[in-house]
Amino acid sequence: MKTTSLLNLKGGIGKSQTAINTSYNLTTLHNKKVLLIDNDIQGNTSKFFKRYNPIDTKGTAELLRNKAVYVKDLIKHTEYENLDIITANMHLESAMMEVTFDKESSQHDRFREKLEQVSDLYDYCFIDNAPSIGMQVINALCASDEVIIPIQLDNWSLDGLEILTKTVEQIKILNNDIKIAGCLITAYQKNEMTEAAEEWLRTQCNQYIFNQRIRFSKKVSTSTYYNQPLDLFSKRCAAAVDYRRFVKEYLERGEV
Ligand SMILES: Nc1ncnc2c1ncn2[C@@H]1O[C@H](COP(=O)(O)OP(=O)(O)OP(=O)(O)O)[C@@H](O)[C@H]1O
Ligand SMILES: [Mg+2]
Repeated sequence: MKTTSLLNLKGGIGKSQTAINTSYNLTTLHNKKVLLIDNDIQGNTSKFFKRYNPIDTKGTAELLRNKAVYVKDLIKHTEYENLDIITANMHLESAMMEVTFDKESSQHDRFREKLEQVSDLYDYCFIDNAPSIGMQVINALCASDEVIIPIQLDNWSLDGLEILTKTVEQIKILNNDIKIAGCLITAYQKNEMTEAAEEWLRTQCNQYIFNQRIRFSKKVSTSTYYNQPLDLFSKRCAAAVDYRRFVKEYLERGEV
């Protein structure tokens, strides 16, 4: 199982959309088995797959809190074959507090140790992170082989990129093998500013920038209303086309 974190400290830049559509496309178009972990108390990804329950304690919170948990007990099937999810809700907040105050045992490798239990069951695990570096995101990074940074081409996002790459460097003390797979430009709209920002990214930034951008498409927010992955909701919209191409690039890059 290859574990990939979607990471950006900025909110609303397409982490969840990328986690959802990449996972779905890997199962339907590439015959892969995928485990999706919702690592955000907002529970957007859990809601999208209609598995959100505000009082359910069997989710990412338990993955973080309970050292003896049997991970299979936390996994829920989605309505899509080969796509399973560990859901999140507000319980994740109290689990984070508990872990932070637990000075008796190690705090950062709760996810890593437990995900090993299911590593033979899935080809990929995607962790849809909150826009912060809390204890649950540190755990995600310690369990991840790589990080994808979704990014929108405005000045603020580019500022955040430096902090993100430094954070991943710091995590290497705890997880030496982690690497940044690349930055993925999301909700792309062509104008002078985005062209200049992309030029800067592709020439001056030290990270790999996926060739494929995800174009802005109104269908994306509508698809969240209908709870359908883009390939199902509107196969021909620009973002659906781009996510299919992105997944292909992601797979090819992984096989290099
Ligand atoms: N390619 C796109 N085209 C148009 N809208 C998009 C696109 N990608 C994402 N969006 C919209 O942007 C908003 C934020 O997307 P998403 O929830 O994936 O971001 P996020 O980074 O996970 O946010 P958060 O940090 O709050 O979890 C949503 O309303 C989504 O519909
Ligand atoms: Mg999100």
